[in-house]
Amino acid sequence: MRADLIIKNIGNLVTMRGSNGPRVKEEMNNIEILKNAYVAVKDGKILDVGQGYIVDELIGENTQIHDAKGLTVTPGLVDPHTHLVHGGSRENEFALKISGVPYIEILKRGGGILSTVKSTKEASFDELYNKAKKSLDIMLEYGVTTLEAKSGYGLELDIEVKQLEVAKKLNETHPVDIVSTFLGAHAIPTEYKENPDEFVNLVIEMLPKVKDLAEFVDVFCEEGVFSVDQTRRILQRAKELGYKLKLHADEIVPIGGAELSAELKATSADHLMAASEEGMKLMAQNKVIANILPGTSFNLMKNYANARKMIELGVAVSLSTDYNPGSCPTENIQLIMQLGSLGLKMTPSEVLTAVTINAAYAIDKAHEIGSIEVGKKADLVVFDSPNIEYIMYHFGINHVHKVYKEGKLVV
Ligand code: NIG
Ligand code: FE
Repeated sequence: MRADLIIKNIGNLVTMRGSNGPRVKEEMNNIEILKNAYVAVKDGKILDVGQGYIVDELIGENTQIHDAKGLTVTPGLVDPHTHLVHGGSRENEFALKISGVPYIEILKRGGGILSTVKSTKEASFDELYNKAKKSLDIMLEYGVTTLEAKSGYGLELDIEVKQLEVAKKLNETHPVDIVSTFLGAHAIPTEYKENPDEFVNLVIEMLPKVKDLAEFVDVFCEEGVFSVDQTRRILQRAKELGYKLKLHADEIVPIGGAELSAELKATSADHLMAASEEGMKLMAQNKVIANILPGTSFNLMKNYANARKMIELGVAVSLSTDYNPGSCPTENIQLIMQLGSLGLKMTPSEVLTAVTINAAYAIDKAHEIGSIEVGKKADLVVFDSPNIEYIMYHFGINHVHKVYKEGKLVV
């Protein structure tokens, strides 16, 4: 079969192919890197992957040939945890934060997430769309071709729906693919402070109403926010309705979020800076992905999650920006990758696994993205770097040379 496009002369082709589940332990480190390789694309999908001489049958009259000039090519990066759609920003809380006022204390004073809830309520659909689009453009420039986007700045049905509809429209109009998550249980609105269980009931009532707009349901399970029992109630109902599950778990206090994610067989548990070793073991046994967000540790000036322990225990690790206006205002996935090495002590191979195939599993899309193998979407990043180590070593800059989304050059 003739290819529409062949990218040739790839110095290092990181394929991530051949795994039949999320990569764990040494599988995260032992990745395939093909030298002098090429990738052939047909109808937006990968037609062939090879090394050296390009098979004659692939080249027809209309085949375009792009020269990767010996650079490094990886699967399109996947960012499996973002709060992409929101109104406003929170630099007004920056001085408080650096003076040492804790994140949860700012929230308790009515700031933090609740301040973004106000801005999101006030913003029109178009304002939210344009702001999120600007961020999405940046993410794509840094190599992200698929991401997850959460609601959670409405805390009431109409505004949650507005956020999810913005994400839906962006998914239809922007090259980056978006997987949506309903995070109605992101904070307790001030008016429910005295009876949070009533708000939990309200979130449970919202679940069937957003079914067409979200694939996942997530809860901020944290001391002072949603307890383990409240989280269990919401997520059990979500599961009955056919949603897949995620949790913001054990970010600040180890209250048993990791353990709950295992009990509910969630797709991922995210943050985990305070997760217990028992919780990690249960996650490994129940195949829950640990989606670690080192940018949040960095930006909150807090500890990093114990990624080495998780990998040792056989938990599959993915990495994500957590892009949001409070705990991690950055779209830059490459900075997150660098913090994956410098903060979490992950090797460059583990980091790349964590932002490609394991990240694809974290949003249940590994059947179509996350690796360069025949039949999957031709989402590819060409990095202006001679090897993968260089991407983690030379930090704080954008290494992307080109991005292909379903075989089309988009950056
Ligand atoms: O993942 N921790 C809870 N939610 C977000 C932060 C949201 C915000 O501060 O606006 C997070 O860190
Ligand atoms: Fe988050």
